[in-house]
Amino acid sequence: MTDGGEAVLAAIRSRRVVRAMTAEPLPREQLETILDAGRWAPTAGNRHLQRFVATDDPTTLRLLRMVSPGMLQRPVAAITICTDRPRTAAFGFPPDAPGLHVDVGTAAATLLLAAHAIGVGAGPVTSFSRAAVAVVLRLPDGWVPEMIVCLGHPAPGAPAPMAAHRRLTWRDLTTWVP
Ligand SMILES: Cc1cc2nc3c(=O)[nH]c(=O)nc-3n(C[C@H](O)[C@H](O)[C@H](O)COP(=O)(O)O)c2cc1C
Repeated sequence: MTDGGEAVLAAIRSRRVVRAMTAEPLPREQLETILDAGRWAPTAGNRHLQRFVATDDPTTLRLLRMVSPGMLQRPVAAITICTDRPRTAAFGFPPDAPGLHVDVGTAAATLLLAAHAIGVGAGPVTSFSRAAVAVVLRLPDGWVPEMIVCLGHPAPGAPAPMAAHRRLTWRDLTTWVP
């Protein structure tokens, strides 16, 4: 076990999606810590073709929420993971290259875990109008919003609205081959 290994494993196990958040703002330093963690996520070919669009502006957050049916929480900040299509094309990746979607996932997992590690609640959202989010965030041409990571202080005692399924074991998820 490496130094801090137990703490990392404990954080992985205890992270949960937070869908109820208080209205207390997040300090910018905490947002920057989470964003800085995001750049360490593995990316296909180490290309870093995603960009993070961050906001803690109440009006922008309200508008994001209006165009995002999957945003059940009222976040006080949000990081939108975007694929930069022109950059993708410049690197010779076809727009449907599976690595691009995988990169969104690795970035999201890293942001969620980093938030949890510093005591910030986080929840991913993919149910939103891509066209509307691009307008709200004034995204440059060719930037596609792929996932919004909502951030805020967890509201104490608030139940998670999504039904909890039986937590699968690693054995449920794993097939050994000889
Ligand atoms: C690709 C992806 C899309 C998701 N979209 C949403 C969403 O739109 N709204 C939401 O509340 N949760 C969303 N989630 C969160 C999942 O519902 C959540 O991870 C799952 O219920 C397990 O909960 P846990 O992460 O707390 O263990 C999404 C997760 C992933 C990986």
